[in-house]
Amino acid sequence: MDLIAKVLGRLAMVAGAALVLYLGVVIATGTLAAVSGTSARPPGAAADVRNAKSNRALFLRGRRIFRFDTFGDQAFWGGALQLHRAIAGRRNGGIGPGVSPKTALAVGLKVDATAVPKATAAAIKAGNVNLNDPKVTLALLKLNAVVGVKGFFNRRGRLTSMGITCAVCHSTVDDSFSPGIGRRLDGWPNRDLNIGAVIGLAPSKKPLTDLLGVDERTVDRVLASWGPGKFDAALFLDGKAFRPDGKTAATLIPPAFGLAGVNLATYTGWGTVTYWNAFVANLEMHGRGNFDDDRLDDARQFPVAARNRFGHVRNRRDLITSKLSALHFYQLAIPAPKPPRRYFNAAAARRGRAIFNGKGRCQTCHMQPKGTQTGWNLVTPAEICTDAFAAGRSATGRYRTTPLDGIFARSKRGFYHDGRYPTLRSVVEHYDSCQNLKLTPREKVDLVQYLRSR
Ligand code: HEC
Ligand code: HEC
Repeated sequence: MDLIAKVLGRLAMVAGAALVLYLGVVIATGTLAAVSGTSARPPGAAADVRNAKSNRALFLRGRRIFRFDTFGDQAFWGGALQLHRAIAGRRNGGIGPGVSPKTALAVGLKVDATAVPKATAAAIKAGNVNLNDPKVTLALLKLNAVVGVKGFFNRRGRLTSMGITCAVCHSTVDDSFSPGIGRRLDGWPNRDLNIGAVIGLAPSKKPLTDLLGVDERTVDRVLASWGPGKFDAALFLDGKAFRPDGKTAATLIPPAFGLAGVNLATYTGWGTVTYWNAFVANLEMHGRGNFDDDRLDDARQFPVAARNRFGHVRNRRDLITSKLSALHFYQLAIPAPKPPRRYFNAAAARRGRAIFNGKGRCQTCHMQPKGTQTGWNLVTPAEICTDAFAAGRSATGRYRTTPLDGIFARSKRGFYHDGRYPTLRSVVEHYDSCQNLKLTPREKVDLVQYLRSR
C-alpha cells in the first residue's frame, strides 16, 4: 500500500512538473491564447467549424451547378437541335429573325440584373438599348445574364452552341429592375416560361421526331400545347402527349424549394431529390452522365424509354454524377419563402389552420409541419378523387402529397400536378365534395387564408 502511494505521489509530481514545463513552453511559443480558446469550447467545436466551412463550400458549389451547369447538354440543345442558330438569327451567323430580348422575355425567359454592368443597365433604363435586336440577347448571354441559358462563344465572339441549366425552369427573378429582369429567386418555379415555344424555335427537330417516332408537325403540335409554366417530363418515356380528354399531358413546373425533410420528389414520387436530379440531367436536359433505373425497361408502360435504354445510360465521360451531392445539398438548403403579410388575413388564417388540422382532415395526408406525410408520402388517385392518368405514367402509379409551404410563390397557373384547379378555393371545394367534409362557406374562406399564409 505504502509503496503504491509513494509511486503514485512521485508520478503526480512528475506529471505536475511536466504540466508546468509544458505550459511554460506554450507561453514561450505564444500559443496560450489558442489553447485557452479551445479549452473554453465544448469538445468537437473545431470539427464543427471545419464542417461549417466545408458545408458552405458545398452549398456554393451546388448553387453554381444549379444556376450555371449544363452537364454537357449543349451537345443536344446546340449541337443536335441547333437552337443557338435560331437565337442568333441570320444577321449574326444563325438563321431566321433571331431572338430579341423582347421575344425572350415574352416567352418567359428571365434576366439576372446583377449580372448586367451598371452602365448597360443605365442605358437600358434610359431606353438607349434596342431590345428588339437579337445582338443584345447575345450580349446578355455573354454576360451569363439569361437565367438558365448558357451560351458558348468562339474567340471571335460568335455563338457556337447553347445549353440549359436547372435554373431555366426552377428559378425566376424578383422583377426589381423591370418585368422579367431582377435578382434571382432560386427554387421558385418559372410559371411564365413557355419552354415548348423555346424548343419549338429549334431549326432541327430531327432528334425529337426520331426519339418519339412521329413527324415534325406532330412534334410542333405537342410543343405548342404545353403553354407557359408547363413541361412534360414523361413524354420522353412513354410518348403520350395528351390526356384522354385531349388536353396537354404536361405538368406544372414545381418549386425546387422547401424540399428538406420531404421523402419522395415529383408529383408522382419517382424517387428522392437526388434520384430525380440524375434523371433530369440525363434524360430531360440530355446532359452527359450515367443513370440506372430498371423500372424504365417496361416496354408496355415506357415504350420510348425502353427502346432507347434510358434505364441504363452509360457515358465514359460523366459530367453529372460527381455533381449530384452538391446539387442535392443546395436544393435541400433552399427554404420555402414566406408570403408577404398583405397576402393573407392573419386572423382568418389562424382559424383556417384549426380546420386544416381538424374538420377538414387535411393533415391526415398534409402532415404538419412539412405538409406531406412523414414517411411514405404517396396516395392512390382514388384517395384524392382524381383520375389515374398522370399517376399511371409514373413508375409508382400514385400521387405524391404536395408539400404546401410557399404557396404564394407558385400560385400562377393553378394547383395540382396539371393546374386543373385555378384557385385555392376550387381546391378546397374539390376536397369538400371528395371527402364529404360539409365545410361552411366561412370555413372555406378561412382554410384558403391558411393555405395562403404557409
Ligand atoms: C425544362 C424544365 C425543367 C428543367 C430544365 C429541370 N426541371 Fe426539375 N422539374 C420540371 C418539371 C416539369 C417537374 C415535375 C415533374 C413531375 O413531377 O413529374 C420537375 C420536378 C423537379 C423536382 C421535384 C420537385 C418536387 O416537388 O418534388 C426537383 C427537385 C427538380 N425538378 C429539380 C431539378 C434540377 C436540380 C434540375 C437540373 C438538374 C431540373 N430540375 C431541371 C421541370 C424542369
Ligand atoms: C388523401 C390525402 C390527401 C388529403 C386528405 C388532402 N390532400 Fe391535398 N393533396 C394530396 C395530394 C396527393 C396532392 C397532389 C395532387 C396532384 O398534384 O395531382 C395534393 C395537393 C394539394 C394542393 C395543391 C398544391 C399544389 O401546389 O399543387 C393543395 C392546395 C392541397 N392539396 C390542399 C389540401 C387541403 C386544404 C386539404 C384538406 C381540405 C387536403 N389537401 C387534403 C393529398 C391529400
